Amino acid sequence: MTELALRADSFLACDYSPQDVDEVSVMSRILRGFILMTTALILAGCGQGQVSFEGDIQPIFAKSCINCHSGTGEGATSSAYVMTDYDSVMKGTTFGPVVVPGSRMSSSIYLVVAGKTAPEIRMPPHNDESFAEGRGVMLSANQIETIGLWIDQGAKNN
Ligand code: HEC
Repeated sequence: MTELALRADSFLACDYSPQDVDEVSVMSRILRGFILMTTALILAGCGQGQVSFEGDIQPIFAKSCINCHSGTGEGATSSAYVMTDYDSVMKGTTFGPVVVPGSRMSSSIYLVVAGKTAPEIRMPPHNDESFAEGRGVMLSANQIETIGLWIDQGAKNN
């Protein structure tokens, strides 16, 4: 009697109706699709590739920073931060380096452009005066991310 009931139980537990089978294969197809998509995304992330200082970073600095951070510009005179070439970008201010290769969150150059500091020291300057002069234009999200990636990838001179 108990043996029979047990057998009936296990029979029921394994009893897929054709509809269940369909559901299982749909699920596994969705799962397979998901795995493929994830792989593709990871590959795409890697395919984002190496950021180039010369090709990607220097043009951003040339357009938005060098005006002030070279020669007698106010950024160069007040913080001694010159941004005309790789060596001076890496050398930093009178207080030391602002780029910490491998870590954007430890790099004040990233923090000031990403708006993660007090408004007074955001770069390009975000004070009322610079807005009035049309100079307070923040970098685009894309440019900020490019700088962050360049730092995370080791801030290479490439
Ligand atoms: C309108 C002029 C101007 C522009 C444009 C400008 N800066 Fe500056 N920058 C300054 C001045 C002035 C200081 C000094 C601020 C201070 O010490 O209070 C400074 C300081 C800095 C510092 C040092 C911050 C610290 O830790 O003390 C960094 C890093 C910096 N700028 C990066 C940039 C970057 C990157 C750009 C371009 C995206 C840029 N700046 C554009 C004027 C400018």
